Amino acid sequence: MKQDMIVVLDLGSEENPKIAREIRALGVYSEIHPHDITLAELKALPNVKGIILNGGPNRVVDGVSIDVAKEIYDCDIPALLVDHRGDDPWPVDDGERETALKNFIFTICGAEANWNMDNFIADQVELIRNQVGDKKVLLALSGGVDSSVVAALLIKAIGQQLVCVHVNHGLMRKNESESVIEVFKNQLHANLIYVDATDRFLDKLAGVADPEQKRKIIGGEFIRVFEEEARKLEGIDFLGQGTIYPDIIESGTKTAKMVKSHHNVGGLPEDLKFQLVEPLKQLFKDEVRACGVELGLPPAMVYRQPFPGPGLGVRCLGAITRERLAAVRESDAILREEFEKAGLNKKVWQYFTVVPDFKSVGVKNNARCFDYMVIIRAINTIDAMTATIERVDWDVLQTITDRILSEVDHVNRVCYDMSPKPPATIEFE
Ligand code: XMP
Repeated sequence: MKQDMIVVLDLGSEENPKIAREIRALGVYSEIHPHDITLAELKALPNVKGIILNGGPNRVVDGVSIDVAKEIYDCDIPALLVDHRGDDPWPVDDGERETALKNFIFTICGAEANWNMDNFIADQVELIRNQVGDKKVLLALSGGVDSSVVAALLIKAIGQQLVCVHVNHGLMRKNESESVIEVFKNQLHANLIYVDATDRFLDKLAGVADPEQKRKIIGGEFIRVFEEEARKLEGIDFLGQGTIYPDIIESGTKTAKMVKSHHNVGGLPEDLKFQLVEPLKQLFKDEVRACGVELGLPPAMVYRQPFPGPGLGVRCLGAITRERLAAVRESDAILREEFEKAGLNKKVWQYFTVVPDFKSVGVKNNARCFDYMVIIRAINTIDAMTATIERVDWDVLQTITDRILSEVDHVNRVCYDMSPKPPATIEFE
């Protein structure tokens, strides 16, 4: 193992991710582990130089007092108690905090500042090889940042022992499946199974207008298609997942309440038993991107804007039709192209188009026409909980509008959504 590690034991403090990030910012790798880890489990972690207990002993979470095992307090690994009470409270001033952390990590624990992506990748490759041996790993590769980075890391570690399945649900953006095939099959020579399930998804979705129902159908069908592929393959013991640290926080740790349930490929049937391989589960999003860059993935894949799992399905509003789905896909491609030309792709957090399921009157070629509209949305946010709109330059909007009206079939009107979140949400469904 190449990197030293400081373990933050989770006594229910919401500050744990912040502390882990502060330690990593000082160049030392840090992982967060549950408070009930045993001494043997702690000792089995590589290169643990120190532990930090944030919250103090006998924390009360939901009326229950929790603490780490006495044997951990008594062991030979240096421990820092970050207590906000008492005579010698943990400094709140950022500079003082940094000094206190540095003193603990470097002077008391003797850790080396050797956390960087090269070492992280080298360590994960070793860990993956140890875990997997000569067995095979299955991975649902959507082309999103997390699944792409985990695929690249697994390819580096175990090459052809990784089997990627890319399910095209027909709700991808323009050229998205093609670029997954190009990067992973043609450039990285992955063992990639491509399943075009467009017809299957669109048939199931026909006539369904309720957004939650649409999401359920898309999620459920995805699992069924993936399961069918998994059953065709033999001798697979492991399932790779692009779980990252924020997913774990959102799904609730032992001490934090569940914010939302998170499923990457949750819901597989009981008899399909896999052990999980989750090499990114301690990384924050920016670190996942840095890892992807280091592994040679194209910047467009690593820095792409967030894209919902149900894809264009929740942007083709109401009951999905192929005609309107094509209008969403083409207008989205134009928007992305023009945002890139204007340099807005690096500035705006999320931008997309939607097509509602009603028509408005227009005039084309001197005749009355009755056609759909495209709504453009471009927002900025820190955490997706609240959002403000981007004040897109008028000329850029004019160019996009002109292109959509002349290049996209069945569209006679383009609108710009001015609504912040709240009261609107980022997506329309
Ligand atoms: P809302 O619309 O709730 O969106 O303001 C907040 C963020 O979440 C994304 N989003 C989704 N992501 N599956 C996903 O993986 C979904 O069903 C889903 N719905 C919304 C949305 O794009 C935005 O970034």
